Amino acid sequence: MILQRNNLPNINQISDEMSRVLGDYDATELRRFFVYYQQCQAGAKEFGTKLENLDSEFEMLENHNPIHHMETRMKAPQSLIRKLAKKGYDFSVDAVKHNIFDIAGVRVITNYLDDIKTVEHALTKQSDVTLLKRKDYISHPKPSGYRSLHLVVSVPVFQANGPIEIPVEIQLRTVGMDMWASLEHKLRYKTDVDKHHVEQYASQLKGYSTELNQIETHMQDIFNHLQKS
Ligand code: GTP
Ligand code: MG
Repeated sequence: MILQRNNLPNINQISDEMSRVLGDYDATELRRFFVYYQQCQAGAKEFGTKLENLDSEFEMLENHNPIHHMETRMKAPQSLIRKLAKKGYDFSVDAVKHNIFDIAGVRVITNYLDDIKTVEHALTKQSDVTLLKRKDYISHPKPSGYRSLHLVVSVPVFQANGPIEIPVEIQLRTVGMDMWASLEHKLRYKTDVDKHHVEQYASQLKGYSTELNQIETHMQDIFNHLQKS
């Protein structure tokens, strides 16, 4: 199953409105941004299809399907603006193209720990996929306790004028890591909980991350044993 959340605006309506409100407004950069945004969405779709095809293949041919479910999301334009400001980049399409690689995002939730590597390899060995960045927050969890494998991969998106390479961020994590990240994310963005509780919960969650890792490792062992027998 693939859950999709789009934030695709209409370029013509926006540039018409900008020109109407601001007079001789030059919408070139805005137009370039939305064109790129749509190309990123096409990149996410390419990876969505690749992963759906792998999911069907595993389902049909293997005893075990590593993929539990997938989600795709486009970074909302306002989050992109916030990220450019936070990182000190220009508000230009070139700055976005050179520095921001998670406009299109795909999250793959796997059943077990080893499934993450299975999916990573099945995806990155494809001849049209290029691995641009790899961050292993499973071997090296973040200080918060966050664990996931982050890849930035590119794929050619075919346009009327030919192919262009589009980066997509793929986050791979187990069901346990996903459950943890959802709750920790909630804690991060909760503003109405007092500081003392936030600190206490953050520290508890850090501990649970380690415990979950131990449990998932043991469950992997049981699973491997059952697969062999
Ligand atoms: P930029 O994406 O360029 O900001 O840098 P980066 O790729 O180093 O970002 P990073 O890999 O640290 O994190 C990207 C995404 O991972 C975030 O948007 C979250 O979805 C997730 N993430 C990273 N750290 C945490 C964390 O501590 N807690 C939770 N819940 N999610 C996290
Ligand atoms: Mg990132």
